[in-house]
Amino acid sequence: MKSILDYETVALIDEDDAIEIIDQTLLPGKTEMIRLHTGKEIWDAIYLLQVRGAPAIGVTAGFGIYLLMKHSEADSYEQFMEEFGEKSDYLNSSRPTAVNLSWALKRMESHVRKFYEEIASSNDGTVDAKNSAGDFSEKKSLIIAEMKAESERIKKEDVEVCRKIGEYGVELIKDGDGILTHCNAGQLATCKYGTATSPMYLAHEKGYKIKVYCDETRPLLQGARLTAYELQSAGIDTTLLCDNMSASLMKSGAINAIFVGCDRVAANGDAANKIGTSVVATVAKRYNVPFYVCAPTSTIDINTPTGDDIKIEQRKPEEVTEMWYKERMAPEGVKVYNPAFDVTDNELISGIVTEYGVLRAPYDEAIRKLFE
Ligand code: MRU
Repeated sequence: MKSILDYETVALIDEDDAIEIIDQTLLPGKTEMIRLHTGKEIWDAIYLLQVRGAPAIGVTAGFGIYLLMKHSEADSYEQFMEEFGEKSDYLNSSRPTAVNLSWALKRMESHVRKFYEEIASSNDGTVDAKNSAGDFSEKKSLIIAEMKAESERIKKEDVEVCRKIGEYGVELIKDGDGILTHCNAGQLATCKYGTATSPMYLAHEKGYKIKVYCDETRPLLQGARLTAYELQSAGIDTTLLCDNMSASLMKSGAINAIFVGCDRVAANGDAANKIGTSVVATVAKRYNVPFYVCAPTSTIDINTPTGDDIKIEQRKPEEVTEMWYKERMAPEGVKVYNPAFDVTDNELISGIVTEYGVLRAPYDEAIRKLFE
């Protein structure tokens, strides 16, 4: 029987001008693929978390901007780029914290600019100043084809990068280990392997008997609905716990290491991830459990100096008071605190696992070197 791991998290269906995603809001009860055609549909799918997880959002944005520009009627490069900017800003406004969204859009933009410079250069090396409609339509087709190729590269690289994170991360795991994770930084948040789950999948591949504990992750239950589901589907020994149970689990000695994903790592190593991650990290420090953040370099934002500079998404109160319950479980009118992410201070992080290896403190130095 087909398992959830056999579905593609995000796929470009070019002949239908669509992005196909698994609607993650319906998991694990129902596996339904949906196709996104318009900018609004893409924006909503990201905002509503039908597609979620920093890398998967990045891949969706890459495909999204390609599709939104595919039938552009711009008849000059300047017009094309103006339209690009508007559409890109719109997609970028769907969620503020995961840097992969703006990273992918910026990557697409700089690729287009570089490519245009190349094709617009005349034989003597100067940029063609003529931008008549006739001239540009040919160039536009070439740019669109390049945009498609670049968006597909972003997806392909995501799989390779996640695999690499797994290869470095598995070195931090021993046969028989108990591992805790928070939220879903799994295959469903990427295009394969996940980030935090990649070391687990590779440990499983190696025949290690690991036990993975998943925080359910209030209020949107990504741990229960997604991580527990995908790990169990892979045949990994999986145990679910409520978020407020992880301290007692760590105290009991059942946890040898913690792996979490990340939405944005600041230049000093502070890491924003799903709300509750910093609680796990703080408790881990108390009980001497190593706490690893798994982050592709596309999630490291050297332009954000510290965690205090990361914009944290605030979400609707109903996610806390009503969602998942048969009836409302909080008094009408009560104020609700519902940030989607928190920032784990770098001193609580034992290592940041990237596709280039495991970064260790001092993180500002390690990150600077990585980007050099
Ligand atoms: O709100 P979500 O579900 O998009 O939050 C996801 C996370 O916090 C993940 O840990 C993070 O994006 C990394 S995914 C590899």
